[in-house]
Amino acid sequence: MSTQGQVAVIIGGASGIGWATAALMAARGDTVIIADLDGAAATARAGELGGSTAGHQVQVTDETGMRTLFDTVTADHGPVGAVVDCAGISRPGTIADLSLADWQATVDVCLTGAFLSVKEAARSVREGGSVVLVASLNGRQPGVAMSAYCSAKAGVLMLAEVAAMELAPRRIRVNAVNPGFVHTPLTYGATLVPGLVDEYVENTPLGRPGTPEDIAQTIGFLTSDAAGWMTGAAIDLNGGAHTMRYPNIVDRLADMTAASSTNDG
Ligand SMILES: NC(=O)c1ccc[n+]([C@@H]2O[C@H](COP(=O)([O-])OP(=O)(O)OC[C@H]3O[C@@H](n4cnc5c(N)ncnc54)[C@H](O)[C@@H]3O)[C@@H](O)[C@H]2O)c1
Repeated sequence: MSTQGQVAVIIGGASGIGWATAALMAARGDTVIIADLDGAAATARAGELGGSTAGHQVQVTDETGMRTLFDTVTADHGPVGAVVDCAGISRPGTIADLSLADWQATVDVCLTGAFLSVKEAARSVREGGSVVLVASLNGRQPGVAMSAYCSAKAGVLMLAEVAAMELAPRRIRVNAVNPGFVHTPLTYGATLVPGLVDEYVENTPLGRPGTPEDIAQTIGFLTSDAAGWMTGAAIDLNGGAHTMRYPNIVDRLADMTAASSTNDG
């Protein structure tokens, strides 16, 4: 069955990479459902796109809420063709200092959320449809003070492979993308640490951070007929940063603290 004009559910679709993906998929004629923890933003974004787009509030870690979302979408728009999970948070901190609550929050949203997205896709996506999980460069490249995020995203990569095997008999494809540093509200805090983004760029062969549209283009491809023979794959989208090393946020924060105490003195 063709993916043209499919119903696409984008979780975490109200901001950043998810929003760029929603705009791209709506522009090509998909019926885009923007689902987000921030329900007001999801509704507002759907209004911006117009047409058959709709916005819904959802907590990606809530199994009942996710089930209700997919039941509602199926009742309103028919069988789902594509699910894209873009919901993510990051709570940095070295292992010695990271609270259990921050570890659990990160793993819940990034990994359990991906699990529930696949679980609902297994129930609601029609034959020939697809799932894209937004993992991360940090699923394969470690970053100091990013244990929860790196571990959760590594888990997402394996989840995509297992899901690809399990859903293949129904011809549902499951793939992952691994963005490197992309300017979005999620990474705004990192831009306030002097030198951090510069260090990323120095370790990026293509010499720039990504844009949400860089990632949306590939998600658009993965959810289209053009990717009809791709499943269980993870695509690196990071300007080549996976060939080098990730910035050390702890060192950069120490530099910042030292500079501010010098200025104070
Ligand atoms: N920006 C980057 O540099 C980067 C790099 C690698 C991977 N990623 C991943 O890309 C995805 C999108 O991130 P982004 O940079 O666009 O961030 P973003 O903060 O701009 O967007 C994330 C969206 O997810 C929603 N969300 C957060 N928690 C949620 C929850 N519990 N339930 C439902 N929705 C929730 C937020 O409200 C927000 O609209 C995330 O999975 C992130 O980990 C981002």
